[in-house]
Amino acid sequence: MGQVDPQVRQKVLVFDFGAQYGQLIARRVRDLHVYSEIVPCDLTADEVRALAPAALILSGGPASVYAEDAPNIDPAIFELGIPVLGFCYGHQVTAVALGGEVGHSEVGEYGPATIERDRESALFNSTPLKQTVWMSHRDAVARVPEGFTVTASTSVCPVAAMENPERRIYTTQFHPEVRHTEFGQQLLSNFLFDICGLEPTWTMDNLVETMTADFCAQVGGNRVILALSGGVDSSVVAALGARAVGKQMTCVFINHGLLRKGEPEQVEEVFTKQFDVDFIHVHAEERYAALLAGVTEPEQKRRIIGTQFWKEFFAVAQRLEQDGRPVKYLAQGTIYPDIIESGARKTGGKASTIKSHHNLIPFPEGVSFDLVEPLDHFFKDEVRELGLALGLPEAIVYRQPFPGPGLAIRIIGAVSPEKLGILKNADAIVREELDEYNQRLFEQTGERNSEHSCWQYFCVLPDIKSVGVMGDERTYARPVILRAVESSDAMTADWARLPYEVLARISGRIVAEVPGVNRVAYDITSKPPATIEWE
Ligand code: XMP
Repeated sequence: MGQVDPQVRQKVLVFDFGAQYGQLIARRVRDLHVYSEIVPCDLTADEVRALAPAALILSGGPASVYAEDAPNIDPAIFELGIPVLGFCYGHQVTAVALGGEVGHSEVGEYGPATIERDRESALFNSTPLKQTVWMSHRDAVARVPEGFTVTASTSVCPVAAMENPERRIYTTQFHPEVRHTEFGQQLLSNFLFDICGLEPTWTMDNLVETMTADFCAQVGGNRVILALSGGVDSSVVAALGARAVGKQMTCVFINHGLLRKGEPEQVEEVFTKQFDVDFIHVHAEERYAALLAGVTEPEQKRRIIGTQFWKEFFAVAQRLEQDGRPVKYLAQGTIYPDIIESGARKTGGKASTIKSHHNLIPFPEGVSFDLVEPLDHFFKDEVRELGLALGLPEAIVYRQPFPGPGLAIRIIGAVSPEKLGILKNADAIVREELDEYNQRLFEQTGERNSEHSCWQYFCVLPDIKSVGVMGDERTYARPVILRAVESSDAMTADWARLPYEVLARISGRIVAEVPGVNRVAYDITSKPPATIEWE
């Protein structure tokens, strides 16, 4: 294992004053290969010192600095000697904390604005004297604190940027983190590399080394267990664990029979042939089929599948321990957005609770694990990059989102082996065709999730039959519904405007190749008002 560069561990803390752009700031810093994480703005100077950041960035926020419940910053933080960069609210809160003044202006500035400069500033190195920035404010700094100079202004904002280079404090009224700020990334780069003296060492290759070392350090010689679903996050944890501790980790793959065609075989292949872990394939298909027989209500299906999953998992864990070696750790693919949403991030440390949906399942008597959550500070696209760096196949790394209850919630009404067979075959055709369609778009645009690429695509099997004619014969068979959506986060989605020839090909192939299907319909509803899944 290679030596871990201490620079890789250097971090920039983003103080979150309730900004809509908080995550974006962390992303932009990471894009420059410097590690960054978001912390709440009420950290004290002592807490900050304990975290030993290389720099602080104070985000924007919706409040007015003089509002009664306006978020504040511990002024002692500015005495720590750590370089500070502040944007918008972060600019104003710095001014007030250090003895300057913020005033209410008559005219706000929202959107693009032009700043002008008439002096040198390390923050603005390699950028022109006049440049376009993105503003969003009404209040403005009226008087800068002692020791500060104004370095940029607009026609309505006299203090668009101020600085105290001796103390390495630089703040701007505008938002360098948004793309509309022409030289935003250059300013960030100037701050991180020229002013703070950081190195761009947070690269995936370095990370693989650091994370491997961290994984080993955390678990020591103890046994680790992981519920491997075949999805991106758990697969990346499995690949990392394999690299770190090999067969000391057991990956439990519970096959509920509700995965897509070819998936169980692929997961088994990758984690038995390519990665050196202890892989257990639990064939639970028949137990799930029996539990789901005749169940039509979607939430009941979800409950049955979720509960049985943990029963199966704990049964394996308990069986493993019969050899006298306890399983101390549970590895999980929790990612950064899960942590941010759950609010478990004070001090920027590890979350100590299990993901909320896992929490719903009580551990059986006598079962407890410590958690290993190596991805808990990674965004989804970084997890994918890490997966590639660890050598996972693209088919897993770029896998589309797939619900835990699997195909059971894409079969309207009761699940049966016959319906599952039809759905798996139709779904395989849709994936083949739309994977290829996405690949063509990728080659044209260079973007994985470009404007018109499909984000999620699958078939739904409704609980009806319809009349058709094949050859000379009347048929009475099932329709399938094609669902293909464009989205970035599943919160909203639009139906994909697929070319007619692609639709025609999918429909033609499904009817010709999947026995029992005589009709294909396309769902042309967005979310909202519909949802992506049908159940
Ligand atoms: P909806 O249907 O709510 O789906 O628009 C949004 C996203 O969540 C996925 N989904 C699920 N994922 N368990 C999961 O793990 C579930 O029960 C579940 N239901 C929906 C869905 O595939 C989409 O990506």
